[in-house]
Amino acid sequence: KGLLGEVWNDEMSSSMLGSRLKKVVQNYQAMNKYGVKVSGPGGTSNRPKLSGPELLCQVKEKVEVTTLTADLQPFSALSWAPLLLPPQQLTSDLGPYKSCAVVSSAGSLRNSGLGKEIDSHDSVLRFNAAPTSGFEKDVGSKTTIRLINSQVMASDDHRFLSSSLYSSGVLVAWDPAPFSSNLSQWYNHTDYPIFIQYQRYRRLHPQQPFYILHPRFEWQLWQRIQDNMAEPIQKNPPSSGLLGTILMMSLCEVVHVYEFLPSRRKTELCHYFQRFYDAACTLGAYHPLLYEKNLVKRMNQGSDRDIYVNGRVTLPGFSAMNC
Ligand code: C5P
Repeated sequence: KGLLGEVWNDEMSSSMLGSRLKKVVQNYQAMNKYGVKVSGPGGTSNRPKLSGPELLCQVKEKVEVTTLTADLQPFSALSWAPLLLPPQQLTSDLGPYKSCAVVSSAGSLRNSGLGKEIDSHDSVLRFNAAPTSGFEKDVGSKTTIRLINSQVMASDDHRFLSSSLYSSGVLVAWDPAPFSSNLSQWYNHTDYPIFIQYQRYRRLHPQQPFYILHPRFEWQLWQRIQDNMAEPIQKNPPSSGLLGTILMMSLCEVVHVYEFLPSRRKTELCHYFQRFYDAACTLGAYHPLLYEKNLVKRMNQGSDRDIYVNGRVTLPGFSAMNC
């Protein structure tokens, strides 16, 4: 395939990983920390492979992008929640936007020169502790939404409550919940203390919009990945990267995702802002990231050249699909 031979194909499987990563992935495939119940034949069925448009419509139909609101149980009965949780869904407060950019934190963004292009979008989503300061040329400077996990919120190194990194744009947080739990069960068994940190942050920054993803969203999306793969995937929630991509598809007419599918700059450098090397950042260990990338490759409406040169995937927003 010449120049484009290096582009992600949509049939990556754990058998293509190096032996160390393969073992880690196999361990996670066997472990079931969240009590995932696989319905149906799960992975080994011979159901027909869906086309890109069919897959897009399936995601639109079966994945509800929702956030916690003050009226939901158990929050409505807790003293802090009605004061601090938003009264409305994120999707009713934000957008609709015409064009959106999702900026993965991948090391391959280094020396990409994509900053201007990223900033030209109406809305830009970034992840966790990814900075713009000092990296504007490659990742831009606009941050409309920042999606953060509960581990970042709780860790001392990230100074979540005080760092200016988190003070611009809209914050959206998530935490892995048990697979079939209701909100009360999750509230009492979060992976990291998301609700304690949420309350603290909201009291320190009462003017900044801050949402929490409904955990149903994570697992509905997980089910779409598993149902469309030929092998069992890790029984852990999708990565922030895929959660953010689908979140933006619910707000935007068109979504460009940068360096989620690696370009010709692909590297084992984990993040563009850190000198840390690990192939697991790009291929997944805990998260079913390999399979998330297969799914995104199949849904991509842009060219392989866009991926190869710019690390750019083009996805239609839910509002722009004819299903
Ligand atoms: O590491 P972190 O989760 O903050 O990165 C944000 C997202 O970017 C990841 O969840 C993953 O989807 C994506 N990513 C990637 N390849 C990397 C680093 C991050 O695909 N090397």
